[in-house]
This record gives sequence, C-alpha cells and structure tokens, in this order.
Amino acid sequence: MKKLLFLPLVLALAAATAQNTPIHLIPQPVEIQQLTGSFALTKATTIGFDNPAGQTVADMLAQKLNAPTGFALKPQRALKSSIQLNLNSTPNEKLGKEGYTLDAGPKGVVLTANQPAGLFYGMQTLLQLLPKEIESKTPVQANWSIPAVKITDYPRFGWRGIMLDVSRHFFSKEDVKKYIDEIARLKYNTFHWHLTDDNGWRIEIKSLPKLTSVGAWRVARAGRFGERADPKPGEPTTYGGFYTHDDIREVVRYAQERNVTIVPEIDVPGHSMAALAAYPELSCTKNPDTKVNPGTHFADWYGNGTFKMNIENTLNPSDEKVYEFLDKVFTEVAALFPNPYIHVGGDECYKGYWKEDPGCQALMKKLNIRHVEDLQGYFMNRVEGILKAKGKKLLGWDEILEGGISPEATVMSWRGTKGGIEAAQMGHDVVMTPTTFAYLDYTQGDPTVDPPIYAHLRCKKSYSFEPVPDGVDPKYILGGQGNLWTEQVPTLRYAEYMTYPRAWALSEVYWSPKEKKNWEDFVQRMETHFARADAAGINYSRAIYDAIVRTSMKDGKLWLEMEAEVPGLDIYYSTDETMPDDHSAKYSAPVELPEGPITLRVVTYRNGKPIGHLITLSREQLEQRAGR
Ligand code: ACM
Repeated sequence: MKKLLFLPLVLALAAATAQNTPIHLIPQPVEIQQLTGSFALTKATTIGFDNPAGQTVADMLAQKLNAPTGFALKPQRALKSSIQLNLNSTPNEKLGKEGYTLDAGPKGVVLTANQPAGLFYGMQTLLQLLPKEIESKTPVQANWSIPAVKITDYPRFGWRGIMLDVSRHFFSKEDVKKYIDEIARLKYNTFHWHLTDDNGWRIEIKSLPKLTSVGAWRVARAGRFGERADPKPGEPTTYGGFYTHDDIREVVRYAQERNVTIVPEIDVPGHSMAALAAYPELSCTKNPDTKVNPGTHFADWYGNGTFKMNIENTLNPSDEKVYEFLDKVFTEVAALFPNPYIHVGGDECYKGYWKEDPGCQALMKKLNIRHVEDLQGYFMNRVEGILKAKGKKLLGWDEILEGGISPEATVMSWRGTKGGIEAAQMGHDVVMTPTTFAYLDYTQGDPTVDPPIYAHLRCKKSYSFEPVPDGVDPKYILGGQGNLWTEQVPTLRYAEYMTYPRAWALSEVYWSPKEKKNWEDFVQRMETHFARADAAGINYSRAIYDAIVRTSMKDGKLWLEMEAEVPGLDIYYSTDETMPDDHSAKYSAPVELPEGPITLRVVTYRNGKPIGHLITLSREQLEQRAGR
C-alpha cells in the first residue's frame, strides 16, 4: 500500500528529472529551445531522406545508431519517417551551405538543411543529444532517448580548421582518418595536412621518387626534439613513412564524406631538409651529406623570433631547377586535392645561406633588390605562378607578406594576429591561427606536469579567442584553425591529448555566435564531453583541473599566487614536506612563501574529492618562475 502511495511521487520525480536533463552540445548552436518530453529510439524507428543527396548522411546516421543499440535501422527514401532528413528545395537563406534545423519531439526528429553538409552537422548534433553510450562500437544497454528540442544552427565562419603536422612524426592513413572523423564531429570543415618539413617528406611524388624513398625516412631517435644525436654515417633510416597517391585519394574521399576539405601543405622554401636529403642539389651549398633530421639541435633560437640554421634547410631561389622541381611537385599535389588552396608554407625561412651564395647575389642584382628578405618575395611569386597555372590559390604563413605577395594570396596569421591584421588591411583573405590562442602543441597544464614544449596555452585562453580583431573588416577573415605541431607528439593517442579539450573550445570560437560565448557554461558542457570522449576512446587533457601556480619576487621575498581555470575548485598546498590534502592550507589570497629550501606542493579538490594533478615545485623552480 505504502509503495503504491509513493508511486505518483516517484513518477513525478522521474518526469522532472527527464525534463531537466541538460543538453550539452559543443559547439553551442545559434538557437536552442528545450521542450518537454523526448523521442525514444527503438528497433521500430524509421530513418528516411526526401532527396537522394541525403542518403550518405542517412546511412552514416544508421550506422552510428545501429552499432551501440544493436538495432538494424535501414534508411529509406521517404517523407514521414521517425527520423526524417530533408533537403530544402528552396534554400533557407539563414542556414547557408552548412546550417540545419533540428526538431525533436515525442513523435520523432526532423533534420532540415539546404545541402548535405547541413544534414551532416544536424546528425552530429543529434548524436550529441543521445546518451554517451552512443559512442560504443558494440551493443550496450542505455536509455536511447532524444530530448525534445528545437534548434536552428549555422556557422559563424566558413573556414574552421585543424592542422596536423605529419612530418615530425608520421601518422598512418588510419590515424589521419580517425583524427578527421573526430574533428568533423565538432563541425570543423578543414583539415590542414602539414605534409613536408625537415623531419620527413610524406607525400609520394611519382616524378621525384627520392622524395619518399629517401626523404620519408630518418634514423630512429628517442628523447626531446632539438636535443637528439646526429645521424651517424651509414646509420639505417628506419623511422618514418609516407602516403601513396592511393592513400591520399582514400583520405580525401573519407574527408569529403564528412564535409571536410583537405588543404595540403608543402612547406617551402624553408623547412625543406627532408627534400634536400633527397635532392641536395636544390640548396645553395648542395651538401651531399644532408640527412632527414631526427630532431637534433639544428637551429639556434634567439628568443625574439630570429634564429640561425646550423644545417641548411632552404631551397635555392636563384636556381631554375628549383622551380622545375616545384612544378613537378605541385602538378601532382594539385591533381590529388580538390581544394582550391595549396598551402606553400613560407614560414621561418633562414636566409643566411642565400646571403653567401653567388647565384642569389647575382639574382638580387638582376632584380635590383637590396635585401635578401626580398628574395623570398621573388620565390613566393614564382610559386604562386606555378599554382595559378594549375588552377590553385596560394595560401601561406604570415611571413609571405614580408617579401611582397600578390593581393590574391591568402595569409595564415600565426605570429599573433599582427600578420593577419596587416594582411586584411592590405585586402588579403586571412585565416587566423595565432600561437597565443590556437597552438595545440603548447602545454595546457603546468609545465612540471605536462611534458614541456616551447610555450604554454590554457584551454580558457583558447576559448577567449576573438578571430576578428578590432578595426578589421570581417569580410577578410575567412575563419581560423587550431594547429598541432608534432615535434613531441609521436602517437595519435597523444595527438588527441594535445588537441582536446582546446579544439572543443576553438570549435565554439569558429562556429558559435560570439555573443553566446560563456566560459562557465562551456566548462559544464566540456565535462559532459569528457565522459563522451571516454566512451568513444578519445584521449584528452584534464589540465583544467590543475591549479595555475604563479610566483613573484617582492623586496627579496617570494610570493605565491594561484587560481583555478574552472569554477568551484578548492586549492590546498603545503610547504612543509608533507603531501597536501583538504586539511592542508587552503589558498585564498597571495601568500609570502617561507625562506629556505622549501618545496611547494599543490592539489585541487572539488566537493571534498581530489581532482587534478599534484604540482610539486622546488624553491629553485619557484624562483625561476618568478623571473618569467
Ligand atoms: C609555424 O608555426 N612555423 C607556422
């Protein structure tokens, strides 16, 4: 009897809970209105598409739903299915090429878009509305319900990219496909494939076979990039790999099915040591002992962005053979990639060898240019001519502005936003990828916890990025990217760790309305996505749970200042050689640290439970940090 009396209350509570199930989408849609009720996915659910162009997405959706549910849903051309994918016969202007509407209610779900790309993004949103078990690759039990909701969504920017460097470490085509699939879920539509650099040439060029038979392989080395031992004479080159034309076509097709276009990068005239290991005659010194570099100390960096190359890694701009070489390379690259853009690098080109070279001197005289920097302008213009002849557009890092470049060139701003601002003011199209917000190779947690690299970038900072600088006409800002350089990223698993959650943050920067950005709200959604990534077997960093530890020196005293990246964390610390816990000193305001050879240990707690890593800093490290 008692049980029966309680039943209505239990039901009411259950209903209230269902009603309040928060919807946690990344990136946040333009408009979202949660309604009451939900749609239950069952084996009787039908999936339909009104136009044959919607079938690819419908099939993909069925596949995604069937694996974890064990259902055997089979899409049909139809008009009134329980999950219905429709393409507008008259385009809805607001949605553009990639937008969609999603209407979910107890009777079913309707996805509508102007083009299949919009249906694809609607599908990604739909999958995020299902519980995390939807990520399982084998049948599991779960509450397969979709909350009632009305969504209208479209991107802020047309260019939403992620760059992966496959030169410093080779990533197999399977790895690359998985990575592309992951970014497509976040509504990124551009995969910038950094295919060549000093440490490996990764794309087969049939007319230049040594680029891969020699250039794709280096000696095996462990340890930090920049500190590794030189190749020994005659040492076998066993580490590396490359993509055949068939591999590339397979990856391009795979990406196309996910509305991802691939921008290939052939990085010239600098960063070309792997090409020169294959064809040393293309350099100024023509050193026949040039090797694909395994990450030795091959450059000296002076801290202000200037540097000296200890080993030549530049093509010789005064040699016509170089342009014949590039014509062969770009003929094959242009045929493999449908994207109108080819990225030609142009970054960090050391001109010291050009300065010493009689051919370069003679060319400068002939061109009547006084600065060796202007030779890069000459080189880039020649490269642009080669690309134009193949119907392609030139895209390069912001250094391409320095030697002068045609207004049709598109500029990727990486040394902050300065290059992008200048370029836009000159009327160039710009893709924003500043180190300060978008470099996914930088450490995201404390450098004593995360393996250290050149610089540091927290997720919160990435989230705060505004790609359109003040005073710049937004029409020149095509969008932006996150860039993952892989000097110290040897595996896909670690590439994921470096990419997420910062690429979640950037997906929102490039897709969602600026006005909707809200870090506290994003954190809640990010935490839901940690659980979804766990279910999907995708790695990510939890550095957002670690304390941010700063020190400063005031009147010879060492001061400690700490904060948390996410709200609701308590920070505890010790300086007495004990392991800190929630009975240790709780940080609330800057404190003066005791004199002597102390060690600072810091932990974070949330709701009485430890979360995040232990950070340990010696007095020496604390003092060093104060000097930063
Ligand atoms: C770059 O990071 N060198 C473009």
